[in-house]
Amino acid sequence: MSFSEQTIARFAREVAKYPPEQKQSAVMACLSIVQQEQGFVSREAEECIAAYLGMPPIAVHEVTTFYNMYNAAPVGKYKLNVCTNLPCQLRDGEQALQHVCHKLGVEPYGTTADGVFTVQPSECLGACADAPVMLVNDRTMLSFMSNERLDELVDTLRKA
Ligand code: FES
Repeated sequence: MSFSEQTIARFAREVAKYPPEQKQSAVMACLSIVQQEQGFVSREAEECIAAYLGMPPIAVHEVTTFYNMYNAAPVGKYKLNVCTNLPCQLRDGEQALQHVCHKLGVEPYGTTADGVFTVQPSECLGACADAPVMLVNDRTMLSFMSNERLDELVDTLRKA
């Protein structure tokens, strides 16, 4: 696998933000670029980024597996991450995850057959007092997600 000239140019702009000996600091930005362009970050893409930044492939893989925002495989149009970390667990986080999965007919980490929704558990989103908490497409945080609000969200996104 190799990246297009445009992709490499985007990488270079990110790398230029750091001193030459610290170009590995651009790893998250490079991963985001690949995900934006391809929808996910494959192991091959990780290896290419590792080669570009002069770092071990396992170090890149550690970054992609640590953060929820990087997708290791294609996901649906809407990626729904429901927080199931302990504080949320104590306030219906797991129940919220199960409710969304049941409504959409998928298991956690599953994608609906029409490719519209992917549902995943999530680590702490930093809003524990607002549980149940979730994130839509890695950007939009939603709080106090009761079953009614979850149903409303899914129905609204389905029509969008
Ligand atoms: S544990 Fe869910 S937001 Fe912190």
